[in-house]
Amino acid sequence: MSLPAPPYNDDKSSFAYATVHKRWPTIIEGAIDDLNAAIKVDSSLESSGATIRNSLNGLLDDFKQDKEVPKFSDDDIALDATLVHYNNHYEEFAKVKPVTWLTGPWLYLECYLYKIINLFFVKTGHPYWLKFDIFESLKNKTFQQSEFGVVELCKRFKLLDDQLNSATKEELKLLFKEFIDISLWGNATDLSLLAGSVTLEDIKSVQGAEVRKKNEEKIVVNDTDKTWNYLVSDKSSRDSVDIVLDNSGFELFADLIFALFLLDGKLINKVNIHCKQIPWFVSDTMPKDFDLLLGQLVDPEFYPNLSADDANAIKFVHEKISKYHKNNQINVKSHEFWTLSYNYWDIPKFDDLYQELLTSKLIIFKGDLNYRKLTGDLKWEYTTPFKTAIQQLSTSKLPVLSLRTCKADVVVGLPEGVNEKLVKIYHDEGNENGQFWTSSGKWAVISFNN
Ligand code: F6P
Ligand code: MG
Repeated sequence: MSLPAPPYNDDKSSFAYATVHKRWPTIIEGAIDDLNAAIKVDSSLESSGATIRNSLNGLLDDFKQDKEVPKFSDDDIALDATLVHYNNHYEEFAKVKPVTWLTGPWLYLECYLYKIINLFFVKTGHPYWLKFDIFESLKNKTFQQSEFGVVELCKRFKLLDDQLNSATKEELKLLFKEFIDISLWGNATDLSLLAGSVTLEDIKSVQGAEVRKKNEEKIVVNDTDKTWNYLVSDKSSRDSVDIVLDNSGFELFADLIFALFLLDGKLINKVNIHCKQIPWFVSDTMPKDFDLLLGQLVDPEFYPNLSADDANAIKFVHEKISKYHKNNQINVKSHEFWTLSYNYWDIPKFDDLYQELLTSKLIIFKGDLNYRKLTGDLKWEYTTPFKTAIQQLSTSKLPVLSLRTCKADVVVGLPEGVNEKLVKIYHDEGNENGQFWTSSGKWAVISFNN
């Protein structure tokens, strides 16, 4: 079977076009501002910082002039051996047409972009920049503005103890649905979208229980029942769930709440959370972001206006997470694979990661980018079964669950006629091109394959 093509950056009917013309420059301009702020604090960083700033500005110029994207050099590869994989994929794309910033394949170039930004920092060889996360201040700011959602989740979670004590199987299933939704809609907060037209008010408005309930019908593929049935009937001795994380801050917090539910509900004995090793797609979780979040939850200056009741609820959740973390029941992992240019059909080629994931009862992929990598980010027909779109992954013996609010082009597994209906709805809401419902962040999918 021949595969569909990926979206290219010059395709105006793809979300790629807006991403490349608007989001990428805004993200880089924001990065330059944050770099300048860091240099201001420590003047010894001035000369190395200026080199990074020049490279970032150079990138903005290259976009404007639609320059051909360079392959990574041997010197680059000496600094970061994983860039070989990028060059290999580059050669494949270059066979189709020259790879330029404004016309090349969207997903590949978006990954390349974050890799090359990271390389600018690595190239300085300066210990400060090697550990620096250019997006950290933005991540922290947004988590601080998520106070309402955090408090609400903590208060909700505090009630769970009693509910779990007396829960029947049917009630446990209802709770499972509720906590899956918490984790799913946590993905509606994505910082890279801040570079577009989404305001912080918008972000707050997706974080409450009421909104989650209202959004139930916006889940256009919902395999929650299938996932539940699989979880409770699986007789294997596998006792861990793996979560391939997406964004830090509120989404990570929502994922941890889901992890606590799985652990407290005795549905599982261990949760492994997989992070990125480098700053990635602005807001993705790095291992240090987990530590930062734990500290922020109990830092009186981070949420300074909490009532005693609010602070108590947060403390309760913080203690739970810390306890499970200490007991090695919540484990923080990271693998270079997650920031390579492979889609996830290729997980079995990375034997160490593959063997590790094979011991998992369920692998949950959070967010939009993970979904794009699961499906190869190809222009599949909307009715293509999820099983088909994840290709070799479907026969890899890895049980896969994707929780994703739709923020790109690709969506699969829709029943006949649903795409057409949503195109009309989104158009009637005043949007010129109704097909962009797939990138609006207003709809979501819960897709499972075993
Ligand atoms: O800027 C758009 C974008 O980068 C999409 O390309 C990408 O899939 C999404 O943002 C990131 O979303 P998420 O954090 O849910 O993966
Ligand atoms: Mg992300």
